[in-house]
Amino acid sequence: MTGKRILILGGSSFVGRHLFARLGSARAIATYNTSPRPGMVKFDATTSDLADVFSPETISHAVLLLGDTRPDSCLADPARSRVINVDGIERIIDRLNQWRVPIVFTSSDHVFSGDKGDYVEGDPADPIVLYGAQKLEVERYLERTARDWVTLRLAKVYGEDPADNTLFTGWLKDFGRVSSMKCTTDQRFSPVHVDDVCDAIEAAIAGRLKGLYHCAGPVALSRIELLELLLGAVRVHHPVELDIIPCSIRDFPLPEKRPLDVSLRPDRLVKDGGLTLRRPDDVCRRLAALQPRSHGVAVSLSTLSLLKPDPTRLVEDLNAKTRSFFCTRLPVRIDKPLLDELRQLGRDGTVRVCLHSSPEADHHDMVILEHAGRYYPPHKHDRRGECFHVVEGVLGVLTYAEDGAILDAWRLGAGDIYRVDRGQYHQAIPLSECVIYHESMPGPYRGPGDSTYPDWAPDGSNADAAAKFVAVAVSHLRG
Ligand SMILES: NC(=O)c1ccc[n+]([C@@H]2O[C@H](COP(=O)([O-])OP(=O)(O)OC[C@H]3O[C@@H](n4cnc5c(N)ncnc54)[C@H](OP(=O)(O)O)[C@@H]3O)[C@@H](O)[C@H]2O)c1
Repeated sequence: MTGKRILILGGSSFVGRHLFARLGSARAIATYNTSPRPGMVKFDATTSDLADVFSPETISHAVLLLGDTRPDSCLADPARSRVINVDGIERIIDRLNQWRVPIVFTSSDHVFSGDKGDYVEGDPADPIVLYGAQKLEVERYLERTARDWVTLRLAKVYGEDPADNTLFTGWLKDFGRVSSMKCTTDQRFSPVHVDDVCDAIEAAIAGRLKGLYHCAGPVALSRIELLELLLGAVRVHHPVELDIIPCSIRDFPLPEKRPLDVSLRPDRLVKDGGLTLRRPDDVCRRLAALQPRSHGVAVSLSTLSLLKPDPTRLVEDLNAKTRSFFCTRLPVRIDKPLLDELRQLGRDGTVRVCLHSSPEADHHDMVILEHAGRYYPPHKHDRRGECFHVVEGVLGVLTYAEDGAILDAWRLGAGDIYRVDRGQYHQAIPLSECVIYHESMPGPYRGPGDSTYPDWAPDGSNADAAAKFVAVAVSHLRG
């Protein structure tokens, strides 16, 4: 790929987060607009031109995922939604065409009226909702203006993360919490797994797809059938009290009449892309097997794994000097199994697990594993104080006066807490072979200028000088 990367426009979207996690920052550049994510670049399609942020020689392909994706929001302000969903995307297409960058555009099953169902690519599009009409307008613009393009018309996309609140995981959260649920019998669609969407995008990038494709799951079912599928799978494991009340989508006071049967046939995608699509019944069985007996909130919601990371919850900061991770979903829990994993991962070096989602977060919590011998020069932060809470091992902490005189020096063990003020020189020294501690402070992190270093302490570039300084500091430690 000649050092070029795939540009994911709308990397912070549900699909984009999965795609970026899969491709990684070595293969892809991803954008966000209002929801910053680690490693992603800010791009607002309504105010910026692609050329303001990127240069053509760095991009191999572009995947267009951004937009206002909620039909009701599009209708609520048609002019505003047009600015992003049509004008903004067409401007991006113009620039990509000028740069000769192949384009993968994501459209929607809502380009159909829903009167027929089981739509194939040759069926005429006839949207009845504004969102679908906007998608169709861009589809046609792309077809008219671009040389190398793929349009993927996505069916409803779902995932398996308990926190993603998509089709099945959203229902799972309600099992055990509500005693009855209204569900429509007259809406029919072919939900597609987010991993299959990413497979399709990868097939497009690899050149196996050209033109228009329906990107849908292998099975079309009504909404109530999908709910019954999930409920049946969960009931294999334990009883769930739930009364499903059949209803019509027409019973809901929606601002726009919704298409009824937008099921899509993915045959062309399967054939050209060589994809094996995930079946919703298999996914329901898998989700049901993972459900806790309480079948209320999934008990795994806050569970984190460093060794088997879920890319939608844990992102490694590949630019960091030592191994560093951000938790992109809350809640998160640090417990004994997680500490075991941290020890395994940190056998040879420092590991930092940031419980916040990015350097921009307004509060930073870090669980850090360090080894003795690592030197951190004294420093201060003019804007923020800092708190250390030792989990295991021994950590030395010192505070210094402006001229370098030691003001306070303690050896902290498991359970000890130490807080320094803003503008106060301090230093942490890992003393035991391995120390794990929790550090918290206000955010955001503003880069190297965030800390001030004094001229009376070595900066760490001379190991001997640093070792001598630490030896003196350690000789003052109490406790
Ligand atoms: N999810 C589905 O079930 C489904 C079904 C059919 C088709 N699709 C299509 O698939 C694509 C991805 O859908 P999704 O559900 O994953 O999307 P999503 O989660 O709703 O995310 C929308 C994305 O658009 C970005 N965005 C919004 N306004 C922007 C602006 N002015 N400038 C730049 N970026 C902007 C958002 O950035 P911030 O969040 O950072 O502001 C976010 O990354 C969309 O084209 C959608 O129409 C999705």
